Amino acid sequence: MNKKNRPHYDKERLPKHVAIIMDGNGRWAKKRHLPRQAGHKAGITALKRTIETIMELGIPVLTVYAFSTENWKRPADEVNHLMNLLRENLHNELSDLHENNIKLNILGDLQGMPAGLREELLKACETTAENTGLILNIALNYGGRNEIVRAVRAIAQQVKNGEFNVDEIDEITFGARLDTKGLPEPDLLIRTAGEMRISNFLLWQIAYTEIWVTDVLWPDFNEEVIFEAIDDYLKRDRRFGAAV
Ligand code: IPE
Ligand code: IPE
Ligand code: MG
Repeated sequence: MNKKNRPHYDKERLPKHVAIIMDGNGRWAKKRHLPRQAGHKAGITALKRTIETIMELGIPVLTVYAFSTENWKRPADEVNHLMNLLRENLHNELSDLHENNIKLNILGDLQGMPAGLREELLKACETTAENTGLILNIALNYGGRNEIVRAVRAIAQQVKNGEFNVDEIDEITFGARLDTKGLPEPDLLIRTAGEMRISNFLLWQIAYTEIWVTDVLWPDFNEEVIFEAIDDYLKRDRRFGAAV
């Protein structure tokens, strides 16, 4: 889309946090008689495009679902390929992310990631920790249930150590133990490739998130689709349980 033809949004009304379930890489490849790996590679390009558009719109937080706790069930060669793709892109893109003032965060159970990659991910987060631009959360070995269980364990341990009282446990103190601590909850959740399900993503955080599903497959995702999602989001009446 020509930059001049881009919609002009009132920044105040835009979502502060967009979360995306990037689905459909395999189907994109299948349609083209290509191996699934080609779909994942094209998916990375779509992610780069998306980060650019989100930054241009001035949306402060983007969270993308890259690998779920259930995705380990896939064949070993696909899992290995995804891990390699991640390592390669982390290497190639870190300086660009840093130059663009992006703060990288990983959501998910890093303990369950291969040790070498875990170290590199932690280093990348450290390198970009002081950046003040887009907060980019990548959900890796992430499951909403796993995240909640880890938070429960952390809180139980503190209670056991006498550092925290049971009556202090509430939605705020619990939320502060989740991987998304300190971040606003997603305003808009986008899922590509048409599936009407959450697949264990951000279970706690999406209590009042607006959900938008498109049939577009993730590798085909582009700024026009983002604008379509935002246009729809801006028409929603968010009531948070209150009377109309
Ligand atoms: C999303 O695409 C990428 C990951 C889950 C890692 P898929 O690989 O799930 O693509 P489909 O759903 O098989 O089309
Ligand atoms: C959700 O996609 C996970 C990611 C996008 C990383 P899946 O392809 O794993 O979800 P299901 O299996 O269709 O629910
Ligand atoms: Mg899928």
